[in-house]
Amino acid sequence: MSINDTLKKLKEDLAKTAADINTSLADPSITKEIEVPGQKSLDLLAEVQNNLQQMITKLDAKLAKGIPTSRVVDFLNELLETEYDAIFSYSYHALSVEDKQLKKELLDLGYMEMRHFELIRDKIVSFGVEPKWKLTKYMDCTSTEPIEFLRWHLKAEQAAIDLCKDGIAEGLDDALGGFLKETIKDEEGHIKWLKELIERFGSASPLKAD
Ligand SMILES: [Fe+2]
Ligand SMILES: [Fe+2]
Repeated sequence: MSINDTLKKLKEDLAKTAADINTSLADPSITKEIEVPGQKSLDLLAEVQNNLQQMITKLDAKLAKGIPTSRVVDFLNELLETEYDAIFSYSYHALSVEDKQLKKELLDLGYMEMRHFELIRDKIVSFGVEPKWKLTKYMDCTSTEPIEFLRWHLKAEQAAIDLCKDGIAEGLDDALGGFLKETIKDEEGHIKWLKELIERFGSASPLKAD
């Protein structure tokens, strides 16, 4: 187990204990049973809880501090590539199909990726660094066959999720204030959406513009 994993595990255990104490303190049926004279036992419990909370805050800072800013920025630049490819490939594929509904939904997905792109770019800029990226690493599909390009998008969304998960395992999410977990939620929604599109449009043939 790496030091980061150990710290994370410790933090989780402490957070659970702190939450248990909190529950006990809020439950009159439990606090009534504490037979230490006066209010002292409850004060002690509250103090332990407070100390645990402080330890959790320190561990959070330690996890974030162990990672150099350059690593966080490199990671974000890589994540930016998945979004950059997604914006343009959704738009490209939207132009290549005739079906109005599929066209609209592909454009909607592209606009959402634009928002992801902006969020990640702003994160990079917040570290005082210029964002950089290159095209087609995650989305190398020029096919205009819906079944084929939708599957490519599915693969690219999964690549973005995998990258975010790697970042979380490395402790980068703490340095980014939970941003990666939020991004995973969005991308998982996109995967669900794409699977529905594949089911609805994948088998039909007259979707191509040419
Ligand atoms: Fe995205
Ligand atoms: Fe996405």
